[in-house]
Amino acid sequence: MKKNLLLIALFLSSSFCFTQNALIQNAYNRTTTSLNGDWKYIIDPYENGYYNYRYEPFDQQPNPWASAFFLNSKPKDSTDLIEYDFDKMESLKVPGDWNSQKPELLYYEGTVWYKKSFDYAGAKKGNRQFVYFEASNYKTEVYFNGRKLGTHVGGFTPFNYDITTLIKEKDNFLVVKVDNKRLKEGIPTLNTDWWNYGGLTRDVKIIETPLSFIEDYFIQLHPQNNKKIKGYVQLRGKYISKQKVQINIPKLGIKKQLESDQKGKVEFEIKTNKIKYWSLENPYLYDVTIETTEDRITDQIGFRTIETKGTKILLNGKSIYLKGISIHEENPIRGGRGHSEADAQQLLDWAKELGCNYVRLAHYPHNEHMVRLADKMGILVWEENPVYWTIDWTNPATYQNAENQLSELISRDKNRASVIIWSMANETPNSPPRNEFLSKLARFAKANDPTRLISAALEQKDYQGNPNVRTIDDPFAEVVDVLSFNQYIGWYDGLPEKCKTITWKIQQNKPVLISEFGAGAKQGLHGSKAARWTEEYQAHLYEQTVQMLNKIEAVRGMSPWILVDFRSPRRVLPEIQDGWNRKGLISDEGVKKKAFFVLRGFYEGK
Ligand code: GCU
Repeated sequence: MKKNLLLIALFLSSSFCFTQNALIQNAYNRTTTSLNGDWKYIIDPYENGYYNYRYEPFDQQPNPWASAFFLNSKPKDSTDLIEYDFDKMESLKVPGDWNSQKPELLYYEGTVWYKKSFDYAGAKKGNRQFVYFEASNYKTEVYFNGRKLGTHVGGFTPFNYDITTLIKEKDNFLVVKVDNKRLKEGIPTLNTDWWNYGGLTRDVKIIETPLSFIEDYFIQLHPQNNKKIKGYVQLRGKYISKQKVQINIPKLGIKKQLESDQKGKVEFEIKTNKIKYWSLENPYLYDVTIETTEDRITDQIGFRTIETKGTKILLNGKSIYLKGISIHEENPIRGGRGHSEADAQQLLDWAKELGCNYVRLAHYPHNEHMVRLADKMGILVWEENPVYWTIDWTNPATYQNAENQLSELISRDKNRASVIIWSMANETPNSPPRNEFLSKLARFAKANDPTRLISAALEQKDYQGNPNVRTIDDPFAEVVDVLSFNQYIGWYDGLPEKCKTITWKIQQNKPVLISEFGAGAKQGLHGSKAARWTEEYQAHLYEQTVQMLNKIEAVRGMSPWILVDFRSPRRVLPEIQDGWNRKGLISDEGVKKKAFFVLRGFYEGK
């Protein structure tokens, strides 16, 4: 009897799975201990380190076998049978996808296990520790010192777990199972036009906080009153009710004393008529400090309004034209997913050189450096949830996955002035389940952030059957604040001259952003502008397209496809594509093509 009780206790303790904690706001500025660097790894295509031979997950067994990789087992003596040893394996760099680090992993889709051992001396007594992942693609199981912390799904948003009760001064080990298999019910789904980079693609760090800390806050200009700062602060921990919370904005002479409610939350509005609004010309960021008796965090926040009025987009009440470009999160020269501040700086510097005041971060949330730099550089941002193409619309788990990823994106970036648009989806086929799925996502976005605009790349078709008149034909157009669509006349639809024959009829009284147009060109391939893949063809298409689009009164911006050539397994034309989508205005070696200068010339005239 006693033995059974012990087994049950063991089962409960070992299988007790810590829940993923609410995202810690502004991890970017928190004092952290980086876990970046070399992590040991095991490639595990059969998930042999996760399932026993009866295909039962080890981490759900009452007494997991030593062969469970998450235990990081070592043989006790020469009789012990352990068929793995992390410490004798090679290492992968974290942050970084595995595809671009090891030739044998370039096309790999499956599970890779990571293991990081570390000491953690100097923890302040009474503090809490969290392990924070900036992103991991795609399904991630996290174990710490032999205990399961949880499972995260989604490849492009952060997540964190409380490890306070598990962390030790010496010999901690973090074991992470990352599985980048594409799934029909996934977000994104099986088919995409980008490389399925897997792994711990962004930073991993330990955040230490006081026992009661500032978990979340949202501080923005009041959407309807630009003389008011509005927001909330959410405390977490033991002593959070009736706590003094102070908001300091020194450059505005603000020291606002507040008090949290029973649940540790306080909402506020602060009147001020001295605000220097964040703008493209002057992207002014205020130091905003939030402090309690136990915790203190500073953020750099810009205050601006963004709204639509008829077919106009107004930044601080002034109509703007979004001179943009679409960007994938890739460092083409090094190869692989971009993750560093330098990677982000390179992409945004190229966008600035192109004459952009706006970027569309396609087709998934990029790393936080992109939006932090956009805040500083005065570049407006469209951020996108990876609801891309043929999603499993009727699957409730798929919707929940999409909502979770959108929630994590909004949570991370809701205080970034540069971010003005949340995109719900890209090029998704019109159907009642899809419209319900997207409308629910849009309601969720608005409820969590009423200060920003909603959009999506919508469907379009011939107007009343006339092949020379195009129109947006998409019920979701009634839901979005900003209409948007991808159009490829001259590439997938006829030749560039066709642009001269097409007119557009936009029936909704809303602004329009052309979220994509473009053509492929192999950098350095020159010839007739009628010959596909030449730089001349691409430049000619840009000339024809901007003339066509410039005639649409409701068009208030564009983000042509795309800034840089990017890797895609769908693009296999020898000597031209070789695994790259060649629609970039810049090659994978950083060389600008002719079309770059056509678009820059158009933007200079705007
Ligand atoms: C689509 C899609 C992109 C894709 C592009 C292309 O519009 O949104 O993700 O890469 O077209 O075909 O190059």
